[in-house]
Amino acid sequence: MDGHTGTGEGSAPARVCLIGAGSSGIAAAKALHERGIAFDCFEKSDRVGGNWVFANKNGMSAAYRDLFINTSRPRMEYSDFPMPESYPDFPHHTQIAAYFDEYVDHFGIREKIVFETGVANAARERSGQWRVELDTGETRTYDALIVANGHHWNPRWPEPAFPGSEGFPGLALHAHSYIDNSIFKDRRVVVLGMGNSAMDIAVESSYVAAETYLAARQGVWIVPKYIFGKPVDQIRNDPRVPFKIRQRITQQLIKTYAGPPERYGLPKPNHRFGEAHPTVSGRILDRIQHGTITPKPNIESFEGSRVNFIDASSVEADVVVYCTGYKISFPFFEEDLISAPENHIELFRRVFHPDIPNVFFIGLLQPLGAIMPLAEAQGAWVGDHLLGDYALPPAEQMRADIAADQEAMRRRYVASKRHTIQVDYDDYLYHLARERRAGADRARANGYRPPAACRPSAVTTGS
Ligand SMILES: Cc1cc2nc3c(=O)[nH]c(=O)nc-3n(C[C@H](O)[C@H](O)[C@H](O)COP(=O)(O)OP(=O)(O)OC[C@H]3O[C@@H](n4cnc5c(N)ncnc54)[C@H](O)[C@@H]3O)c2cc1C
Ligand SMILES: NC(=O)c1ccc[n+]([C@@H]2O[C@H](COP(=O)([O-])OP(=O)(O)OC[C@H]3O[C@@H](n4cnc5c(N)ncnc54)[C@H](OP(=O)(O)O)[C@@H]3O)[C@@H](O)[C@H]2O)c1
Repeated sequence: MDGHTGTGEGSAPARVCLIGAGSSGIAAAKALHERGIAFDCFEKSDRVGGNWVFANKNGMSAAYRDLFINTSRPRMEYSDFPMPESYPDFPHHTQIAAYFDEYVDHFGIREKIVFETGVANAARERSGQWRVELDTGETRTYDALIVANGHHWNPRWPEPAFPGSEGFPGLALHAHSYIDNSIFKDRRVVVLGMGNSAMDIAVESSYVAAETYLAARQGVWIVPKYIFGKPVDQIRNDPRVPFKIRQRITQQLIKTYAGPPERYGLPKPNHRFGEAHPTVSGRILDRIQHGTITPKPNIESFEGSRVNFIDASSVEADVVVYCTGYKISFPFFEEDLISAPENHIELFRRVFHPDIPNVFFIGLLQPLGAIMPLAEAQGAWVGDHLLGDYALPPAEQMRADIAADQEAMRRRYVASKRHTIQVDYDDYLYHLARERRAGADRARANGYRPPAACRPSAVTTGS
């Protein structure tokens, strides 16, 4: 913990409800715990780790049997809890899930988590407090709410559905429910999408299927896992160097390594590197070059088991896998209170709601890099705020910051529902640290007063 410890006037910490004990929720829980802030963390599952728990009881994990991380170990680990030295650069999901288990035990936060208890509804009362209904039927009231419910669990299917897709007689599934490649054995498989799910699943299919087609509506830069013998995300990336320069260097490195994607029959990217969420794969280009995956443009329609592509080619298929991304969802909020239509949600630095001062979001960002250290920094930031050690800028300044950020994202990224919460890993951490310092100065000037909207009040518990 750094800075002041919340001893200003009226600074007793708020009572907080934290939703979710995935890698984001446990980082926030640790930050609250070490600051002495009272909280309840509700977790639907019987264990921590969210997405990284294969066959998670909560039904929300997208992990498949052979999932390995694509952000390297040092990029993914929390700053004060390194992953074991024995781990490889890109560990398996079982190792990642074990790491999160060890984290909660190491920092003594397991007992703070209420397992197998979901938040069914969170409504704001007239007083401003949160009335939280649990799926056990119990209702509790809190001064502040932290949301860490993940954003890769509600599958987005093609919108609108492809004409004729409802009559496809084979197996159609979303990447979220993919488990392993036994479903592809000797089948003709079409995988749709150019994100990381599509890469992994097409590669897995290519080892056992009769035919594998990879269909894309637009091209991407494919980032190898290693360059110069180092995990690619460990190549120095200094946020003080202008983005355009870093972009040019990285794109040139990728081109030098593999040549342009169109050389492999993939669509030519209509953007420069860093203008789409990175698609990382050490294997896809090989499998294409071995003739085991055939690139295709987007699907146009289905006629029975025939899949027609927009270039007028077509194939017979037994399985179609839609790797078409996810919807940011908060099923416990009334839609008109907080929602993310088309994955769009406006928050100050991805954490603070500009109009609701006692709700905070952790891990609701899509970095070029791993989420965990960013969620860790966000948790510490919110913890400081609740204690009065960090004060937000004035509302107009936050709104201007949000508007500028939205505009920068719109200008930089390819228009897509998957590019609504993008950040650059190093840049985000750098600017967050600066903002925390600026907010600490404001807090000092304010006499370290905790935010009025999160001031503790009589907490009621009932059914
Ligand atoms: C296939 C796949 C691979 C990925 N690989 C990487 C990677 O290599 N590196 C990386 O950085 N990111 C990766 N990601 C992104 C992924 O989102 C993060 O790794 C990470 O899981 C985010 O953690 P989280 O805690 O925010 O969300 P989650 O892991 O989804 O955890 C959310 C938790 O909240 C709980 N919860 C949800 N709703 C409620 C409720 N109403 N009440 C109580 N509890 C609730 C859930 O049970 C769950 O435990 C990947 C995503 C996918 C889909
Ligand atoms: N090994 C790993 O670590 C690993 C594996 C899988 C996933 N992940 C992570 O999980 C998250 C989700 O990845 P994801 O690949 O599942 O989803 P994603 O990144 O959102 O990618 C979705 C893909 O589907 C395409 N798409 C969406 N709707 C379409 C439509 N109607 N027609 C044609 N194409 C359509 C998108 O194209 P547009 O770009 O044109 O919208 C994009 O190529 C990411 O953070 C990713 O890094 C990691």
